[in-house]
Amino acid sequence: MSILLVTSSPRGAASHSTRVATDLAQKLAAADPSNTLVVRDLVANPLPHIDPDYATGIYTPAEARTARQAEVVGVSDAVLDELFAADTVILATGFINFNISSTLKSWVDHVARSGKSFAYGENGPKGLVNGKKVYIVLASGGIYSEGAAVQMDHAVPYLRSVLGFLGMTDIEVIRVEGVGMGADAVTAALAKATAKVDAIAAATADQVAAAA
Ligand SMILES: Cc1cc2nc3c(=O)[nH]c(=O)nc-3n(C[C@H](O)[C@H](O)[C@H](O)COP(=O)(O)O)c2cc1C
Repeated sequence: MSILLVTSSPRGAASHSTRVATDLAQKLAAADPSNTLVVRDLVANPLPHIDPDYATGIYTPAEARTARQAEVVGVSDAVLDELFAADTVILATGFINFNISSTLKSWVDHVARSGKSFAYGENGPKGLVNGKKVYIVLASGGIYSEGAAVQMDHAVPYLRSVLGFLGMTDIEVIRVEGVGMGADAVTAALAKATAKVDAIAAATADQVAAAA
């Protein structure tokens, strides 16, 4: 299994999403010695915002691109190669102003590419990134999985929409939520998320043992 871990929290070592997602990635990697783990840290190495050279370059044949177009489209090629090479994708994000982090949004902008990750045919759009298992690890100050604020969660519905559009429909969400509600709430949120991580890791280890 090839695992791709994408981290995007702007909060460095204090990040709950990075910590829980890294824990998940390491436990899944440990389930089988042949597993590989690739980490893309979008804060240490932010992707550039897409710009006019990108928006024109992706519709320009490779041999006709300017040097700048080739450079920015090359960034997209690299993250797409990483995505296609993965069997399991773990996306970690903090809940920032009711949505995903802007660094992760840039990653989405680079992987959602006509003719590469989706295509339009006679029957409409078709996702081309198939066969992936996706985990979304989302840390939020408030609670958005239930209650009055559900409709303010623009992170999970957005990711489900765009990833589904690209063909990634097998998505599991791990929330670390309510971390803005005091120390006890942080402890409870981390315990709940870690229990979910452990259950996923145990189920994966069982599958590996059954297949051996
Ligand atoms: C700039 C900023 C904006 C935030 N916006 C929200 C928000 O809209 N709603 C919310 O519940 N929490 C919000 N938070 C709190 C974060 O979701 C919370 O700190 C979470 O743990 C961030 O994820 P991380 O721990 O992986 O960094 C915000 C935090 C920051 C730093």
